[in-house]
Amino acid sequence: MKLTTRLLIADDWEAYALLDSGAGRKLERFGTQTVSRPDPQAFWTPATPPDSWQADAVFDAKAQDDDRGAWRLVRGDAPEVWPLHWEELRFQARRTPFRHLGVFQEHSVHWRFAQEQIRAAGRPVKVLNLFGYTGLMSLACAAAGAEVVHLDASPKSNGYGKENQALSELDDRAIRWITDDAMKFVAREIRRGNTYDGIVLDPPKFGRGPKNETWRFEESLPALLDGVRALLSPEPLFVIATAYAVRLSYLALAQTLADRMTGFGGQIETGEMALPQQGSDRLLPTALYARWQQS
Ligand SMILES: C[S@@+](CC[C@H](N)C(=O)[O-])C[C@H]1O[C@@H](n2cnc3c(N)ncnc32)[C@H](O)[C@@H]1O
Repeated sequence: MKLTTRLLIADDWEAYALLDSGAGRKLERFGTQTVSRPDPQAFWTPATPPDSWQADAVFDAKAQDDDRGAWRLVRGDAPEVWPLHWEELRFQARRTPFRHLGVFQEHSVHWRFAQEQIRAAGRPVKVLNLFGYTGLMSLACAAAGAEVVHLDASPKSNGYGKENQALSELDDRAIRWITDDAMKFVAREIRRGNTYDGIVLDPPKFGRGPKNETWRFEESLPALLDGVRALLSPEPLFVIATAYAVRLSYLALAQTLADRMTGFGGQIETGEMALPQQGSDRLLPTALYARWQQS
């Protein structure tokens, strides 16, 4: 299968900007709030020293590669939850205990791609969004007219997803919010004979299902992609796989996906995802991706 490599840059945000990066940290504006967070890949020299950055809130990690840590409020009245938007989607940003902010903004490159595929299909489209977190991909697909099944192990994240659905005034759209372990759910859907035209998966390096099921990226990805293949409709539109914080080349991800797409034709784009730094040529690498499309 033909593989095309391409760097995807999420440069389509009004409500988000990467203001500076380097010395192991990044300074970002999310709507009305500016935050400073660690970024282990930002080895380069920042435009200005991080301790001179004007942030409303600063995340201090317990250790270099440790997601855990604590937020330090610089602007005492900085709200914990505040509104954000991307195109027609309205949702909440929130400071979480694990430095995340309720949105992975670099994924806008895939939200837009999925919307284009769904709108161009000219037929009813069903999408499965695995490891869906707060649901931005699910909302993007629903806004484009797809029926969506959203799965995440965290009932809290799914709860935020439902709130975001209401904020985006998409309550009339068909989104099923499911709290379950991804591998278990996929196996059950195969037994039920359900199929999807589009499947999205953004698994963490390590994760736990609601009943403590263990997800380990390197161990479980090939089996999950086998399941994805079995869930595809006879005329699938797209499969989007992303990976972050794993020792993996995007070529490895793409070729593992290509194996599963044999017989469907189509093509695979693969590469890195990055965020552009305002007023600079700097790009902040965020994740790897491989995405298959029919046409
Ligand atoms: C990085 S987040 C996904 C972000 C999402 N794609 C987005 O753009 O908003 C990974 C998600 O995987 C979920 N997760 C971890 N282990 C899981 C498992 N075994 N089954 C299902 N979801 C799991 C976590 O709750 C988390 O929301």
